[in-house]
Amino acid sequence: MIHLPDHLTEKQKQAYRQRWLNTISLIVRTVVGVFFAAVGLFIYAAFGPTMHSWFEGPEPIPVEEIQRRIAEKEADLDRVEDGIHLETGLIAAEGWETVRATCTACHSAKLVTQNKATRDGWEKMIRWMQETQGLWELGDQEAVILDYLAANYAPEESSRRANLDMDEIEWYILEL
Ligand code: HEC
Repeated sequence: MIHLPDHLTEKQKQAYRQRWLNTISLIVRTVVGVFFAAVGLFIYAAFGPTMHSWFEGPEPIPVEEIQRRIAEKEADLDRVEDGIHLETGLIAAEGWETVRATCTACHSAKLVTQNKATRDGWEKMIRWMQETQGLWELGDQEAVILDYLAANYAPEESSRRANLDMDEIEWYILEL
């Protein structure tokens, strides 16, 4: 503590000390303030450019790019490879687009592609859906759809035994 002249009253000494303390306190606060400001400036100088990018978010996608992506997706929906329409799995034979438009409205095309039936059988399924599932009258399209289904999703004959080829058989004598 500083030494004060003795002729001062206790009250005056008190006032001096208080002022002295205030001055010290102001200096200390200024130094601390300048220090933190310097640290802040330093951090900004060092990392400022990268900090900007934290607040910018991703680059906006240009409209042309969005349109290109939509066109690509639409082209994908129509893609046919090896005679199979990729999106639905339907065989891309005559009439398939009518079947896609009509028969995938309520359920997956898998219900179609996993079934096999004669033209009669397909007609019965259509009648059943019309009677119980709200399938509408198909009009002219019915024949197109039935032709397509009968041609491409017919019951396989492979469960029947192949005809015997008499020349290929190796005959042998049965010994008794
Ligand atoms: C109005 C809606 C609707 C439309 C359109 C529709 N179906 Fe269906 N279909 C159904 C419903 C509902 C079922 C029963 C689904 C289930 O069992 O999960 C069904 C079931 C089927 C089944 C399975 C039948 C079975 O016995 O398991 C086949 C095959 C089928 N539909 C074929 C077709 C074909 C081919 C077309 C186009 C002509 C078509 N569907 C259009 C509603 C519809």
